[in-house]
Amino acid sequence: MKEKILALCDEYTQKEHLNKKFIPGQTPVPVSGKVFDESDMRALVEASLDFWLTTGRWNDMFEKMLSKFMGLRFCLTVNSGSSANLVAFSSLTSHLLKDKKLNAGDEVITTATGFPTTVNPIIQHGLIPVFIDSSIPTYNIDANQIESAISPKTKAIMIAHTLGNPFEIDKILAICKKYNLFLIEDCCDALGSTYNNIHVGNFGDVATLSFYPAHHITMGEGGAVLTNNSILKRAMESIRDWGRDCYCAPGQDNTCGKRFSQKLGDLPFGYDHKYSYSHLGYNLKITDMQAAVGVSQLGHLTDFIQKRIGNFDFFKKELKKYENFLILPEATKNSNPSWFGFPITLQKNMPFKREDLLLFLQEKKIGTRLIFAGNITKQPYMKNIKYKIYGELKNSDIIIEDSFWIGVFPGITNQMREYVVEAFSEFFKQYE
Ligand SMILES: Cc1ncc(COP(=O)(O)O)c(C=O)c1O
Repeated sequence: MKEKILALCDEYTQKEHLNKKFIPGQTPVPVSGKVFDESDMRALVEASLDFWLTTGRWNDMFEKMLSKFMGLRFCLTVNSGSSANLVAFSSLTSHLLKDKKLNAGDEVITTATGFPTTVNPIIQHGLIPVFIDSSIPTYNIDANQIESAISPKTKAIMIAHTLGNPFEIDKILAICKKYNLFLIEDCCDALGSTYNNIHVGNFGDVATLSFYPAHHITMGEGGAVLTNNSILKRAMESIRDWGRDCYCAPGQDNTCGKRFSQKLGDLPFGYDHKYSYSHLGYNLKITDMQAAVGVSQLGHLTDFIQKRIGNFDFFKKELKKYENFLILPEATKNSNPSWFGFPITLQKNMPFKREDLLLFLQEKKIGTRLIFAGNITKQPYMKNIKYKIYGELKNSDIIIEDSFWIGVFPGITNQMREYVVEAFSEFFKQYE
């Protein structure tokens, strides 16, 4: 019966979701979106038929596969990239790190151009984000400014590889080593990007990923934290799973061999380990249906990365003729980005505004996005937040005014990308 259901799923997916015709000017060209086929639908339905619902066999499979792909020892799924950042940062405040743990009032270096939830966990734990400007056209933290922003209170660096472009890892790692700083690599937009031929995520203490539909692979909502550090893994698992001290897998008991024979905190001796909480935790687990889609999507990942790179290279080549209007993106030296998007900044003193171009593209049904928060210190929620700015945020201010990105996701076909370039060409004709 299961095979019958799954065969019908194939038929349904084909009919309802796949092989949609592209009609220029009518079919939207979004910046991102889920790309899936019958195999993903099968995985989702198969997991639903298990009716396990919570984290289970599919999640085990996903964590193992992702860990192998990334080349990191431990992988834990969570319910979003934002949760991944929260769990990763919280683990640096864990008592398990003893005197190395981060404390309220410590400073964490980050950049003003980014996604809010890369920064928010710092604030939520009472630490002070220190914002540094970013570089154009790589859109990453200006690594040359980091060292002089370090104070005796600086304990960590938490930054993203912007739009898939790796930050200057060699320089940043040298600083982390010299000043004994933790590094969290937010790889939410950079699954598959490499630096010196090694996957990003392998350089810092913890790497985070997002599986929201805009990202390289999707499970709807979802994320992951990865590390080689067994202490951080233990802390992250506890923080993800209600803060419990027990690390038994679901359905298992007494993995530690001391379930009823230890004393923790002010609890009575022998208090059930399953109900002993040693971290300020949450429940950020995913369902097995999400994990099943993740397993199936991992099967497409290599192809997805190639398509993203192909679309990026196409735009870079085809938009080159408009370099008097546009600053085109550059990959960081020694890196091979698995691009999330194609970032663009207007050249200075253009006869048009960014919004004129974005509205023109919108009329043509071509999607665009801004580079996340632009200069995050200007976002309304930062009004009463304690933070520091090191130096000036000159490029962040240019980015907030004049930058945007277009999509390179695998759903963008050759026909679509040619249509996008034609639209740029039509727009610039007015100014030539
Ligand atoms: C760099 C970065 N970090 C974190 C996130 C948050 O991921 P999620 O939407 O899964 O919470 C995003 C979202 O796009 C992101 O771009």
